[in-house]
Amino acid sequence: MGDWNTAGAQITRRRRATFAAGKGARLLPLNGSSAAAAHIPVAAEYGASQGRGKREHSLEIIRRTAKIEKKKRRNDFTEQLSCHRTQESLLSSGSGYKNYRGVINWCVVMLVLSNARLFLENLLRYGVLADPTQVIPLFLKDPYSWPAMCLLIVGGAVVLGTYTILLLKLYSYKDVNLWCREMSTQKAKKLARSLSCPAVQHLNGGEQQVCYPGNLTLKDIYYFTFAPTLCYELNFPRSPNIRMSFMFRRLFEMLFFTQLLVGLTQQWMIPVIQSSMKPLEDMDLSRMTERLLRLAVPNHLLWLLFFYWFFHSSLNFTAELLRFGDRQFYKDWWNSETVTYFWQNWNIPVHKWCIRHFYKPLLRKGFSKMVSQSAVFFLSAFFHEYLVSVPLRMFRLWAFMGMMAQLPLAWFVGRFLRGNYGNAAVWLSLIIGQPIAVLMYVHDYYVLNYGQETN
Ligand SMILES: CC(C)(COP(=O)(O)OP(=O)(O)OC[C@H]1O[C@@H](n2cnc3c(N)ncnc32)[C@H](O)[C@@H]1OP(=O)(O)O)[C@@H](O)C(=O)NCCC(=O)NCCS
Repeated sequence: MGDWNTAGAQITRRRRATFAAGKGARLLPLNGSSAAAAHIPVAAEYGASQGRGKREHSLEIIRRTAKIEKKKRRNDFTEQLSCHRTQESLLSSGSGYKNYRGVINWCVVMLVLSNARLFLENLLRYGVLADPTQVIPLFLKDPYSWPAMCLLIVGGAVVLGTYTILLLKLYSYKDVNLWCREMSTQKAKKLARSLSCPAVQHLNGGEQQVCYPGNLTLKDIYYFTFAPTLCYELNFPRSPNIRMSFMFRRLFEMLFFTQLLVGLTQQWMIPVIQSSMKPLEDMDLSRMTERLLRLAVPNHLLWLLFFYWFFHSSLNFTAELLRFGDRQFYKDWWNSETVTYFWQNWNIPVHKWCIRHFYKPLLRKGFSKMVSQSAVFFLSAFFHEYLVSVPLRMFRLWAFMGMMAQLPLAWFVGRFLRGNYGNAAVWLSLIIGQPIAVLMYVHDYYVLNYGQETN
C-alpha cells in the first residue's frame, strides 16, 4: 500500500512540474532516466503546438505524460517483482569469477589442522625427540655410530659444498679476467699503442669504478669469495649503507630456522625414515608407497624451510653485511608452470653461473641449444651426486638420475601440460621426487652399513 501511495504522490508532483513547464519553467528530472524520458515528448509536443490554444495544449500534454508515466510505473513494478536474470553459476568457468581468496584461506586452515593432527600423532607415538643440545655431545661421545655418523655426513656435505662454491667462483674469476685481458689486448691493437687505464676511475657521482688490471688485488678476491654470488664482476653493485635492523632480522631468522630444521629432522624425519627400512627391505610395495607419502610431507616442509633459510635469510644477511647490492637470489619459482621455468628461477646464483660460464660458451662454440642444455644438466647432476656420494662414501647415482630426469620431465610438462596443471606437475615432482631419492640413499646406506648386523 505504501508503494502505491508513494506512486500517487509522484504523479501529483509531476503534474505540477508539467504545468510549470507549460509556463516556460525549466523541468528537472524527478526520477532519473524515467523522468528525463517523459520530458522529451513533452518538450517536443510543446514546441509543435505553438499555434493551438494554451489550455487545450496543456491538457493534451498532461494526458500524454500521464499515459507514459503509467506505462513506466507498470514496467518499474514488474521490475520490482522480478528476482531472476540470465546469469552463470559462480563456479562455472563461463561466469568469469576469479576471487578465490576465501578458498585459499580454507586451504591454509585445512593444512594447519591436518598438520596439527600429524604433529600430535607424532608426539604421542615418539614423545619429544627434538633436542638441540644433542648435536655436540654426539660428536664427542661416540662419533662413529648412528646418528653421530649422520652428523659427520652433514658436516662432510657442508665442507664439500663450500669447496664446490669456491671452485665455481674461481672459475668465474678466471673467465672474467681472461675476457678483460682479451678485450684490452684488442683495444690496444686497434689504437696501435699500449692501453693505459687507471686502476680506479672516479665517476661523476663520486663512485669508484675499478678497471682491469686494477681489480687484481687481494681485497677484491676476498670480497668476491665471501660475496653471495658465483659470478665475478669488476664492479659489483653496492648498497649505500648497512641496515642494522634488516641484518639482525635476517640473523635471527638464520638462528631460528637452523634450530627448527634440526628439531624437525630429529622429531619427524628420522622416525619416518627408520620405520621405512623394513618395508624397503621386504620390497613391500604398498607399505613402501605409504612410507614414501608419509615422508613426503616433512621432507617437503624441510626443503621449503631450507629454501627460506638459505636463499632469503643467509644470503641477504651476507649481502647486507658486505653491502652487496644485487639481492635477486631467487625469483617466483613457486609459480612455475614448466620445469624449465623452475630451474631458471629457484637458484639464481647457480643459474647465472651456468648461463654465463657454461651454457653460452657452448652455444658460442656452435653446439645446439638441446646439447648445451643437456650438458648443463649433466654437470649439475654430477655435482649433486658428488655432494651426496662422497660424504656417504657410496656411489649410487640416485641424485644424478634425479637431475638427469629433469630433461624428459621438462619436455613432458612443456608439451602436454599448461597453466595450473603445469604448476601442479612441478609441485608434484618436487614433493614426491625428493623423498624417493632420500629413501633410496638411506636404504642403500642402511643395507651397506647395518645390513649384516641386522641379519
Ligand atoms: C640449462 C639452462 C642454463 C637453460 O637456461 P634457459 O634460461 O632455459 O636458457 P635459454 O635458452 O632461454 O637462454 C639463456 C640465455 O642464453 C641466450 N641464448 C640463447 N640462445 C643463444 C645462442 N644461440 N647464442 C647466444 N646466446 C643465446 C639467451 O638470450 C639467454 O640470454 P639472457 O640470459 O641474457 O636473456 C637452465 O635450465 C639451468 O640453469 N639449468 C640448470 C640449473 C641447475 O642445475 N641448478 C642447480 C640448482 S641446485
